[in-house]
Amino acid sequence: MKRIVTEEELNRQREYIQEIRSLIADRYTAPLALVDTYGCQQNEADSEKLRGMLREMGYGFTDKEGEADVILINTCAVREHAQQRVLGNVGALVHTKKAHPGQIIGVCGCMVQQPSAAETLRQSYTHVDLVFGPHELYRFPELLLKRLKVKKRVFLAEKSDGVLAEGLPSVRKEGVKAWLPIMQGCNNFCTYCIVPYVRGREMSREPEKVLAEARELIDEGKKEITLLGQNVNSYGANTGTDFPALLKAVSELEGEFILRFMTSHPKDASEELFRVMASSEKIAKHIHLPFQCGSNRVLRAMNRHYTREQYLELVRLLRSYVPDVTITSDVIVGFPGETEEEFEETMTLVREVGFDSLFIFIYSPRVGTPAASLEDPVTHREKVARLQRLTALQDEISLKKMESYVGQSLRVLVDGRDEGGEKYTARTSGNVLVHLEGPEGLVGSFVTAKIEKAESWRLLGRVEE
Ligand code: SAH
Ligand code: SF4
Ligand code: F3S
Repeated sequence: MKRIVTEEELNRQREYIQEIRSLIADRYTAPLALVDTYGCQQNEADSEKLRGMLREMGYGFTDKEGEADVILINTCAVREHAQQRVLGNVGALVHTKKAHPGQIIGVCGCMVQQPSAAETLRQSYTHVDLVFGPHELYRFPELLLKRLKVKKRVFLAEKSDGVLAEGLPSVRKEGVKAWLPIMQGCNNFCTYCIVPYVRGREMSREPEKVLAEARELIDEGKKEITLLGQNVNSYGANTGTDFPALLKAVSELEGEFILRFMTSHPKDASEELFRVMASSEKIAKHIHLPFQCGSNRVLRAMNRHYTREQYLELVRLLRSYVPDVTITSDVIVGFPGETEEEFEETMTLVREVGFDSLFIFIYSPRVGTPAASLEDPVTHREKVARLQRLTALQDEISLKKMESYVGQSLRVLVDGRDEGGEKYTARTSGNVLVHLEGPEGLVGSFVTAKIEKAESWRLLGRVEE
């Protein structure tokens, strides 16, 4: 199968965009669209493309459902909870649509790529007009036009390895930070995970395209760029440039910016990556390195391809290159059959590494994944208790880490104002949040922050003269 969308096909979509543009041009006021996003940064980046296409069609944007002529819900399927939340919110749109009969409601993204979820939408959510999977994103103009013309429901989420579509327009989030997808899909098939089924096989963008987009972002004034992929460390199988080389090349672009990346799978994180991280001030001293579990038996059952010992060795190697690196991670508690002793091994690994922060999830069975058919004698209550124990341990560790910053002077990027608007929000190279006092006009600049106080989730400080 050809996996790159041809220029011809992209031009066809551009023609649909123009057709929609003329279709809606005679309206008294510009129609409005709302794109609501669930899930990971990859989905955020996709939503920016949907907004890009909508803008070219002539839509303005609103955050009020009642006002929108087109609502798109870009969904996530990674855990049951995420999916339930989406369905609840899509269900509630029945009322919005009653009040606004011409409204078009679209549901896209990972959830609808599961045949069972698409079927649920078809059967029980008849107010939904448009359903399309992540592989169909670039065809959104064609699908919307069809719906506008024929007034029939449009469903498209075929099974596919996924295709790479370059050159789609994008409306990026405001502010100084930007996402930059460098690849799509996942080949790892961790046994609990739905992502490879809904996002297709791995495929990397050409390094030249990534570099050109990074250049554009810097020229637009973005100060923080995050390279995105489900596993950035396996970037480049189809391009001949590996991830450390790409990271280095982006970091060598002219301009003042900080470069982040996520996510890193431990099985593919290399010494070369750590060497590159250490080589440039522009590369954030932070890695998100999900370990998932501290027990070798469970890691094997998860199909993660590393052992506890290998993970610990990797962390040691990383710290030998980048001593002040912050390490964050994902962990799943209550994988089917996880015993009390095995959970204890997760606790000891967390203690041994001393993560800066952790995202802790209770295992959620996903239909179609191998783990969903494993026996699972551990009760939900017990799993919740494990989650709480691990959370308490991590809170203690996080607070100690945060306290160690007090008195230090750290270089930070000022990225906005806090909720009250009194202080700035800023991030250290290690991605630690700092609430900062300082003179006017600092958003978008790198400054030195004197850290005066620590809480478990933020540092407090002031700008140093
Ligand atoms: N590609 C990334 C992770 C994407 S999903 C990586 O491998 O690092 C983000 C996190 O969700 C995973 O790291 C995992 O901890 C969690 N997760 C994925 N599937 C899950 C499931 N079925 N139940 C609970 N947590 C899950
Ligand atoms: Fe899921 Fe594993 Fe792929 Fe991450 S690497 S997206 S956890 S299958
Ligand atoms: Fe969710 Fe899809 Fe991301 S399942 S976590 S939105 S890749």
